[in-house]
Order: sequence, then C-alpha cells, then structure tokens
Amino acid sequence: MIIDNEKDVTTAVLSELQGAPNGRFREIMSVFIRHLHAFVREAKLTEEEFHAALAHVVAIGKHSNESHNEAALMAGSLGVSALVCLINNAGHDMSETDQNLLGPFWRMHSPVTPNGGCIVRSPTPGPALFVNAWFRDSGGNAIAGAEVDVWHSSPEGFYENQDPSQADMNLRGKFFTDPDGHIRFRSVKPAGYPIPIDGPTGQLLRAQGRHNMRPAHLHFLASKEGFKTLISQIYVQDDPHIETDAQFGVTRHLIGSYARHEQEKASAADVKGPWYSLDHTFVMQAGANKLPRPPITGKAHGERPKIPHLA
Ligand SMILES: [Fe+2]
Repeated sequence: MIIDNEKDVTTAVLSELQGAPNGRFREIMSVFIRHLHAFVREAKLTEEEFHAALAHVVAIGKHSNESHNEAALMAGSLGVSALVCLINNAGHDMSETDQNLLGPFWRMHSPVTPNGGCIVRSPTPGPALFVNAWFRDSGGNAIAGAEVDVWHSSPEGFYENQDPSQADMNLRGKFFTDPDGHIRFRSVKPAGYPIPIDGPTGQLLRAQGRHNMRPAHLHFLASKEGFKTLISQIYVQDDPHIETDAQFGVTRHLIGSYARHEQEKASAADVKGPWYSLDHTFVMQAGANKLPRPPITGKAHGERPKIPHLA
C-alpha cells in the first residue's frame, strides 16, 4: 500500500504478515511488530538513536563466536531470559520452578564421568566441593538413567571455554542417575564471576551504572525420555551478589544450601582444610525431552582474558 501517514506503516507491515503460512510465526511476528512500532512511537526515537540501536544489534553479532554468545548475554542482562523461563515453567504463581537460565556457557559432549568422580581436569585452586543431587518426578519417584550435564566456572571466575589455561572440559561432566535417581561428584566450590563487558552488553551495564557480577552457582541440565529437559542453576546462599545478579537468574526457590565443613573429615583423604558439600533434589516435569541449541561450540585460544569488575 502507499503510505499516507505514520499509522499506515504499521497497517502495511501487519497486512503483509497475513500471507505467512506458519500460524505461530504469524502470531509472534504480529505481536512483535505491534510492540516494536508502539515502542518507537512512545520513545519518540530520533534518527540518531535509531542508528545507535542498529549499531548495537550489529555489535551483538560481531562479538559472538564459537566460544562466546553475546546474544545470550544481552538477553540475560535485559531480564528476557528470566522472563521466558518463568512464564514457561513456573505454574500459576509464576515463582516456584526448578528451571532456570541455560546461560551462554553450556557445551555439548561433556565427558561422561562415573558417579563419585571428579570434574576437575586440570589444576584448579579452591576448596573441595562434594555434590549429591537427586532427580524425582512430580510424584516423588526416583528417575533412574537420566543424563545430567554439570558445569561451572573456576574459582577464578572463568568457564573453561573462556580460559585457554584450563584443560578442555574442565569443571564439566556428564553423569547418569543411579536407580535412586542420584548423582554425586567432586569439584571445587564455584565463585561468583564477572560477565564479559567488552561488547554491547558491557555498554548497557555501564550506561546504567550496574555491576557485571553473577553470584556463584552450579549449572545442571538433566534429560530423560518422557520428561521436559530440566535446565537449572543452584546458587550459593551467602554470595555477596545474590540479590543483584547481573543476569536476573536468582529465584528464591533455587538458592542452595552449600554447607561448610571445618573439622569433619571429607570422604577423600587428600582434602585439606575446610571443604563444602551440597545436597539438592530436583523435580522433573513430564514433557518433551529436547536439548536446547548449544550457545557455544568451542574453546577460546591464546591468552586468558582479563574481565574487569564493574563497581
Ligand atoms: Fe554460569
């Protein structure tokens, strides 16, 4: 159609969408166009601001590669990932769910590790952590044979994919639940870490005067035929950033109970000094067992990056 005024633009774009054969695509795009156009009108976006916004979108692509996903980082920093998680999983009250953010650092093909094994694959400083996790269905029955990926950052604040000095797949492992729905493994206690700020996500945080820290956590991804794939994180309860996660991931339901042991002997003889344990039970809902698209596929090369901490 010939455009007579600004309102006609929205009408024209929406009308073109009517020819899309996929109904869900038509629905999503119609909502997207209506809200996007309403946003431009309400914000009274200037040409300069519009061009700056386009440059941000281009920068998200340019800052992404096989070992870094800036789009996932940006979605988290805007709260979109947390919103998508809660509206899809949290039931009527929109609060309690074992599901949480996938984050930008999950890799496929974590090394299969026997129950009780260790996921520290190259020298990694930090206190020992012993984890016991149980997987149950919504009736409380054990889920045996579930495949569980576990991953976390080093106590120095880097996932192995970011840090060439760590062995490939360090602090990652794949476990299978036993007949009691149980996995157990040894690692080191994770620390909170700064998210990368050398790209557009960093600009966003600086412009708001926000810090770039995530509170310490362990990631879990559990899958088993007949159950919705469970993607979760268990946060360390006394982390200084537990209330101000840069990715808005912390829900009350997923704050863990990491216990510190000063005097008690650990189950491994080489553990010296205080050590930690975490026991946690996850509930998996009935549903489709589909793995997410991996946000990254490889490991960084060269020097370990320096990621500043924003105050
Ligand atoms: Fe993480």
